Amino acid sequence: MKHVVLLGSTGSIGKNCLRVVREFRTRFRIAGLATWSNVKALAEQVEEFEPVAVSIGDERAAEEFRQGPQARGLEVLSGEEGLIELVRLGQAQMVVNALVGAIGLLPTVEAVKSGKDVALANKESMVLAGEIVMRLAKEHGSNLLPIDSEHSGIHQCLAGRSVGIRKIVLTASGGPLMGRSQEELRNVTPEEVMRHPVWSMGKRICVDSASLLNKGLEVMEARWFFGVELSSIGVLLHPQCVVHGMVEFADGSTLAQISRPDMKIPILYALSYPERVEASFESCNLADLHSLTFVEPDLDRFPCLRLAYAAARAGGTVPAYLNAADEVAVEAFLLGTVRFTDIPRILESTLERLTWRPATSIEDTLAADAEARIVAKGIVSEVRVG
Ligand SMILES: NC(=O)c1ccc[n+]([C@@H]2O[C@H](COP(=O)([O-])OP(=O)(O)OC[C@H]3O[C@@H](n4cnc5c(N)ncnc54)[C@H](OP(=O)(O)O)[C@@H]3O)[C@@H](O)[C@H]2O)c1
Repeated sequence: MKHVVLLGSTGSIGKNCLRVVREFRTRFRIAGLATWSNVKALAEQVEEFEPVAVSIGDERAAEEFRQGPQARGLEVLSGEEGLIELVRLGQAQMVVNALVGAIGLLPTVEAVKSGKDVALANKESMVLAGEIVMRLAKEHGSNLLPIDSEHSGIHQCLAGRSVGIRKIVLTASGGPLMGRSQEELRNVTPEEVMRHPVWSMGKRICVDSASLLNKGLEVMEARWFFGVELSSIGVLLHPQCVVHGMVEFADGSTLAQISRPDMKIPILYALSYPERVEASFESCNLADLHSLTFVEPDLDRFPCLRLAYAAARAGGTVPAYLNAADEVAVEAFLLGTVRFTDIPRILESTLERLTWRPATSIEDTLAADAEARIVAKGIVSEVRVG
């Protein structure tokens, strides 16, 4: 029985993870759950999965939860420190990090330092400090398993190989805005962006998928996860979303991982690795699809991907600047204060106003994150709609 702490249990990945645990109750047991403020959903999860502890980010929501019947006999932690304490929980062997944003970094660091295995959906941990996280994982004997479907696909294609790799290819659905003109993109609403054609996801990743910034963050994630040069990581638009990742090997052979677009599949893979578990999830029937298409992305129409490649090449504190600026820009777009097409402008202006510094510690990275948020918020107030 594997005991699991699940961070971000009320989000899209969190709920899919609980669906997997529900189907495999004899294999996995939930030891801890963490959320920001959705205590209603958390109470239902506590009743069903009976963890020993929970963590609630928002102090007011935590206080409300402590007063309710679900808190009886349960350790209720709160704030950022609560996430760290939950990760340290003695009975857990694995941490699933499904938090969204830079807030996920410290729990990932704590989990690897305590030698626990980490199933990582929180790509921001790798964007901000991938090199440090991978080094710590090695030092402390922690296995890092990707949950992002593209990285899970590549992990499966590599099957432990780290040499003889010519290229890694991440696929992208292209999101709900493919084929829109620049004028149409200008007037796109948050509701349209939320209507992803294939995946059901949290708000930030929906916006980032539409702008292709998400793919840029995934390129950075892949670089550290698989220890490959940036120049060896490519992106292809693939609207059918059944080929998730591909690896071209030195001998001219390419392996691709194919499955239906269902996040439960990479989650189960990460939770049960290195075993392959018999599951009820449907396989992908290629004959039903008739054809699969792959197209190079247009970096002029979707400048966020170009900015992400540039930030990755610059390294140091720049990826943290980019991620923080995007978190601020996406929030402003969702609130209706900036346009969709303002997002790359906010990212670019933030990067222009900040200076490159080395990021040799987690503290360096977090300081860069805080600095970029202030700068990006200033830029948002300059470009506000109306
Ligand atoms: N969704 C996907 O299909 C998908 C696929 C691949 C990778 N990912 C990655 O997985 C991560 C999660 O994505 P998602 O789509 O599942 O996000 P989401 O639906 O927005 O869920 C985020 C979760 O994190 C919690 N949370 C947010 N801020 C917190 C804080 N400060 N303290 C404690 N908990 C906090 C939220 O709690 P509340 O509910 O209370 O707000 C929620 O449970 C992201 O890094 C994303 O890029 C997602």
